[in-house]
Amino acid sequence: AFVVTDNCIQCKYTDCVEVCPVDCFYEGPNFLVINPDECIDCVLCEPECPADAIYSEDELPNAMQHFVELNETLAQIWPNITECKAPLPEAAEWDGVPDKLPKLVR
Ligand code: SF4
Ligand code: F3S
Repeated sequence: AFVVTDNCIQCKYTDCVEVCPVDCFYEGPNFLVINPDECIDCVLCEPECPADAIYSEDELPNAMQHFVELNETLAQIWPNITECKAPLPEAAEWDGVPDKLPKLVR
């Protein structure tokens, strides 16, 4: 499956949602996740993310392994999102800031 990682937090551009053929993105207040049981590894979302926050689980850097479980867990709790919307207001300022996980709102 593909995994949404740290740099989505506080940005949430949502370009990824628009291209997913199986609508497997789930939305929290300042982050999106992918439901790994629904993702069919089509690869379409990865290049769409302006924040480069999406990785194939196979290519996920070691330092981001904890995002696998986080995507799995939050996809069970958060509502489905199927249409692109405006990014968070301070997306440009937060894009590229390292280690945003403490800012995650569940
Ligand atoms: Fe959806 Fe394809 Fe991305 Fe999986 S890889 S989340 S199926 S767009
Ligand atoms: Fe997040 Fe990138 Fe999608 S910032 S909402 S993973 S386009």
